[in-house]
Amino acid sequence: MARILEDLSRTFSEYLLIPRLTRRQHVMRNVSLVTPIAKHKVGETSRLNLNIPVVSASMQAVSGPDMGIALARQGGIAYVFCSQSIESQAAMIAKIKSHKAGFVRSDSNVRPSATLQELLDMMKKTGHSTVPVTADGSSTGQFMGIITDKDFWEFEDDLASQVQGYMTPREKVIHGLVGITLKEANHLLYKHKKEALPILEADGRLNSLVFKKDYVDHINNPLELLDSRKRLVAAAGVNTHDYQERVPALVEAGVDVISFDSSDGFSEFQRDAALWAREQYGDGLVIGGGNVVSAEGFRYLVEEAKLDFVKVGIGGGSICITREQKGIGRGQASALMEVVEERNRYAKEKGVYIPICSDGGLANDTQLIIAMAMGADFVMMGRYFAMTDESPTPKISIKGRIYKPYWGEGSNRARNWQRYVDDKSATGLHFEEGVDGYVPVVGSVNEVLQVTLEKLRATMNNLGSNTLTEFTQNAVLTLVSEQSIEEGGTSNIIQVDSKFDDDK
Ligand code: IMP
Repeated sequence: MARILEDLSRTFSEYLLIPRLTRRQHVMRNVSLVTPIAKHKVGETSRLNLNIPVVSASMQAVSGPDMGIALARQGGIAYVFCSQSIESQAAMIAKIKSHKAGFVRSDSNVRPSATLQELLDMMKKTGHSTVPVTADGSSTGQFMGIITDKDFWEFEDDLASQVQGYMTPREKVIHGLVGITLKEANHLLYKHKKEALPILEADGRLNSLVFKKDYVDHINNPLELLDSRKRLVAAAGVNTHDYQERVPALVEAGVDVISFDSSDGFSEFQRDAALWAREQYGDGLVIGGGNVVSAEGFRYLVEEAKLDFVKVGIGGGSICITREQKGIGRGQASALMEVVEERNRYAKEKGVYIPICSDGGLANDTQLIIAMAMGADFVMMGRYFAMTDESPTPKISIKGRIYKPYWGEGSNRARNWQRYVDDKSATGLHFEEGVDGYVPVVGSVNEVLQVTLEKLRATMNNLGSNTLTEFTQNAVLTLVSEQSIEEGGTSNIIQVDSKFDDDK
């Protein structure tokens, strides 16, 4: 006979946190949001940490290369969507990895005999104003000099003349040699007040460039998530169908983290795919997966599939109709709490900590805060990031307001059947699990995250904590009645911005 769980299926909005003693050291500037993403021994550090506990969903309307760059620069990661060809997904990963802080391979170069007109055309096309001059015009050719848009006047100089008459020749160019550290390179830039520093091989060929603007950028983004070679950390969604071709292509492009993207990951298909990836890449790749909503599903993915992290959530996503269509799912708070409890039990038993991601259904910042308090190590969001400038969709004006399209991976628009059907011989589904819609535009990733994370830091302080581990340990939650939810809003006043209520 079917078993019925005693607990109701609960959502985040049914809970509130009770403040704990805030000591003098509990101030926002002392808060660290660093959180693990790969499994590790209890008491040791993870081989990869995020600097903020936020990642974006593997969805066509959310995570392209611009999102990957924007989020990694804030300290999180974007899961570049897998419902596209292997080549284009790998190219997106390569774009994130080559976005640079540090040593950049020069992608705009000219020969000394090129004309100023040719140079100008290249500058306009690439947007680069500093161009190395190499003997053969390649990025690794013999270095001859450097030319910038300040070395000639577009409307005064004869654009048919050759670059070599205008460039700063090699002997006058301040440069570094391969082996120099980024710190030393930045120091040379500072000392000589230069914008760019060419780095040369011992035999005089061009190796790379270091830019002042990257240094300034890094100072402005102190939480930037970088790999050991100072490149942004990149992540990708993968599926259980073509992983044997897709994962190697992504690894070749430089991916650091993959996550099996499935609406129901409690399956032998996911286990086999994850074990295959682990066998190929060992601990060199962070491998996550899901989604599950039970202790049983969590145990399976950890013990059988050997995943680094597990995602929790079925049916809670803003564009998701899985619960209506198939009758599977669970309230996100109940699912998360059960899996966290099982994770903690597993950590005690085996001495290994498995990070947990709460995926989908976060309708506002408060719910993100409650999810973190309940023990999520990080959260995955789709709608939240679909609304930002960096999502890969165009802005559309509807009745005078600006929106962006946002659609589920299980919608007919995305046609990502591989997320919902593991059987490789299946050709598709005759029902949808997601909808297609619009969300308002809210600004840049940087702007929205600043506000959300400020609220999280403030709440952590209210609970007497400066780290996410302390936050979860200190968290005391209370279930709220419908009346107290109403009480939590404003009461008996006419709000100044009440005209916006229609939009809620
Ligand atoms: P959101 O943050 O509430 O918009 O939820 C995003 C999450 O919904 C994703 O990370 C996926 O786990 C899930 N998801 C994406 N597309 C679909 C769909 O079409 N149906 C059901 N769930 C989806």
